[in-house]
Amino acid sequence: MRMTVIGTGYLGATHAACMAELGHDVLGVDVDTAKIESLKAGTVPFYEPGLPEVLTRNLEAGRLDFTTDYAEAARFANVHFLGVGTPQKRGSYAADMTYVRAVVQDLVPLLEGDHIILGKSTVPVGTAAELQELADELARPGTTVEIAWNPEFLREGYAVKDTITPDRIVLGVRKEESRAEEVAREVYATPISQGTPFLVMDLPTAELVKVSANAFLATKISFINAVSEVCESSGGDITALADAIGFDERIGRKFLGAGLGFGGGCLPKDIRAFMARAGELGADDALTFLREVDAVNMRRRDRVVHLTRKLSGGNLLGKRVTVLGAAFKPNSDDVRDSPALSVAGSLSLAGAAVSVYDPEAMDNARKVFPTLDYAETVEEALDEADIVVLATEWQQFRDLDPVATGELVNNKVIIDGRNVLPVQAWQDAGWNIQALGRNL
Ligand code: UGA
Repeated sequence: MRMTVIGTGYLGATHAACMAELGHDVLGVDVDTAKIESLKAGTVPFYEPGLPEVLTRNLEAGRLDFTTDYAEAARFANVHFLGVGTPQKRGSYAADMTYVRAVVQDLVPLLEGDHIILGKSTVPVGTAAELQELADELARPGTTVEIAWNPEFLREGYAVKDTITPDRIVLGVRKEESRAEEVAREVYATPISQGTPFLVMDLPTAELVKVSANAFLATKISFINAVSEVCESSGGDITALADAIGFDERIGRKFLGAGLGFGGGCLPKDIRAFMARAGELGADDALTFLREVDAVNMRRRDRVVHLTRKLSGGNLLGKRVTVLGAAFKPNSDDVRDSPALSVAGSLSLAGAAVSVYDPEAMDNARKVFPTLDYAETVEEALDEADIVVLATEWQQFRDLDPVATGELVNNKVIIDGRNVLPVQAWQDAGWNIQALGRNL
């Protein structure tokens, strides 16, 4: 099949490359010339394991190309995926829909014949119906444009696997006559033939599925972090507790990782946009609990700063603090709303001399927080530290040898902000190890 993918950020670039990997002819489209040049040259402009290989393989096979030209996109195919960003609006909780609308405004007047736009971006419920009205107004006489919604559930760090073998495919279609299901079945013929559930529903439900999934995940993390606070006050141990409740199949152990909480470009802004949309629809009460989910999450960052100050003798001024991690999670170079960077920034603003190291996210971190000290290696970051904070659970940090690490630092004091270090081994090596939700 021929298709375009409009927007070549995280979602779009991955989708474009993976659709080509499934055998389709794909044209990726973006207004950002630098991004398009980079992708055309076979370079992924962000860190995503496995994606560079998929990109180069499909560029070489001639199934994948990129352009900034909407007219070329309009001629190239009759199926268009829309994968542009919907960031949080400045000064508001709502999602900024400027980029999504711009795609329809720029593309639709150029189309001829019968086209389908399959939205992948995370959007407020009601967006697809609005875009359909806009497309109907803008379409040339004799041209039809159908808007359907096909939300994306990929995780950064596992984006290729999640796109090629998703755990479900969701498709929202309009009530009027629709060709979207037939088209989507052809696009996703490979995963469907392998047994991936293919769920067809109305447009608002499909839009809601996506935000509900992210809101549920955020709630699960904040649930365990809220109980973590109670463990801290009562002498309980959150990891033993999470293991124990996780054995209940109805609960499950995944996303019960207590620690510094969630960040990134999705969970934080999606729960806020969900609340904002519910408010617009007159259903504010339904989602007020998400405010608490957000607050619990943010309190974990304060807790780590507080603990660092306490372990530094009550004063951070001039203390040498090493923060291990800057990305919002491992296997990613994404620092958007990163808990690690937030903690590093707060410690620095409180007067500590903060040294940060991350295996992949240093360049992005430097752009967001240029005033922090960025070390070249993990050893350099640890050199003469008064206190160490593990903020992102990269494998490299999990594997640190407590004995060798102890020889680099001034004081053997470490806060495990992600509950991943083997406590006994660190204690045996003479470390004062502290963790969130545990009394060690
Ligand atoms: C999330 C969803 O998991 C994807 O399904 C969704 O497609 C994506 O958002 C999106 O909307 O595009 P992602 O942002 O890549 O994916 O990250 P997650 O793996 O969900 O992790 C989110 C945050 O939660 C990270 O900061 C992570 O460190 C934190 N987390 C995760 C915890 O604090 N504890 C856990 O147990 C799990």
